[in-house]
Amino acid sequence: MTIVCEPDVRAARVLAAAIGGEVRAVPALGEVSALLAETGARCAVVLGAGLDFEEALRFTEHLHVDHPAVKVILLRERGSTVETGRASAAGVAAVFDPAAHDQIAHACSVDGLRADGQVFTVFAAKGGCGKTMLATNLAVALRGAGERRVCLLDLDLDHGDVASVLALDTDRTLARLIAGGEVGELLDRGELVTAAPRTGLDCILAPVAPGDAERVRPARIDRLLRALTSRYDAVVVDLPARFSPAVLVALDHAHHHLVVSTPERPALKNLRQTLDILDLLGYSRAARAVLFNRSDLSAAISAADVAAVVRGPIAAHLPSSRDVAASINQGVPLMAAQPAHPVSVAIRRFADRYTPVLPTANIARAT
Ligand SMILES: Nc1ncnc2c1ncn2[C@@H]1O[C@H](COP(=O)(O)OP(=O)(O)OP(=O)(O)O)[C@@H](O)[C@H]1O
Ligand SMILES: [Mg+2]
Repeated sequence: MTIVCEPDVRAARVLAAAIGGEVRAVPALGEVSALLAETGARCAVVLGAGLDFEEALRFTEHLHVDHPAVKVILLRERGSTVETGRASAAGVAAVFDPAAHDQIAHACSVDGLRADGQVFTVFAAKGGCGKTMLATNLAVALRGAGERRVCLLDLDLDHGDVASVLALDTDRTLARLIAGGEVGELLDRGELVTAAPRTGLDCILAPVAPGDAERVRPARIDRLLRALTSRYDAVVVDLPARFSPAVLVALDHAHHHLVVSTPERPALKNLRQTLDILDLLGYSRAARAVLFNRSDLSAAISAADVAAVVRGPIAAHLPSSRDVAASINQGVPLMAAQPAHPVSVAIRRFADRYTPVLPTANIARAT
């Protein structure tokens, strides 16, 4: 369904006819909220050129708190680049001239809306726990035999390892977000994504040039995640070991918060702090999964000690293996090179709990 908000009744009627399909036209922004609350549907909202620009931006920012999947299209007569940039930062998916009927209709169509991809964040408050190892292998597992499109996003902006773990050599990184440009368009023009051979994954890599990491603004990452969920069935986000602004943006978007630890006392202490911070930030415990990596090293720590820290179920135990380091040196995740390896099996078993609820092959259906 498309909701058109336009105070000028005639203009609203013209737009509704141009968009086609199920369209509800309302004259005021307040009525859009009421409609969304009533329908709860995945839909597009077209904010007409007759609305006040600042009000439209404020409305979009608030709307996405409760309805992150709703696509907002803003119409502006002779909109400036500055306005388009501000609209994009507020979460507007596209700005069109009100006369650009074909573009507006496409953006509101099922193709324009398509996927509702799920975001998985992989976090640990202690470095070296195995976040990157889990993120890369999980991404391969979620892809299955190719029935799902998966993007692996490296948000460890300062020290991202995805490029080296997958032996990717390119200057196409998140640094491309520093300059302007609509994020969806950058994606569609292939300026952000690098394909990882032997995995079928699309990867978005961390910046490499000194100083670039700080210049990738959180608002751009927010736009990127929005754009990715409409293009991929699953987005796996590898995070650094601290609650940076980029991490908070990713956690906000995530449907699944994976928290990794190893069974050692300092890691457990950090795990408890991480879980407490996630609670404090108000993230749902239902979205959370705690995984233990190198679980077989736990000889010195009792199951009771671990249970006292986690105070909940442990979603997976991943064994320790030298083959992990070997796979990193070869640039191919174990999941792709050795699917029957015990580490691969443990991660796939964990991934399998999500695959029934993931959308499949959205891109194939839409193109
Ligand atoms: N299950 C495992 N068995 C053996 N070695 C492992 C295992 N998991 C990870 N490692 C090794 O531990 C090291 C750290 O793993 P990884 O880079 O995935 O951790 P990280 O949490 O992403 O670290 P950082 O905080 O630096 O980003 C790597 O050298 C990897 O080879
Ligand atoms: Mg890492």
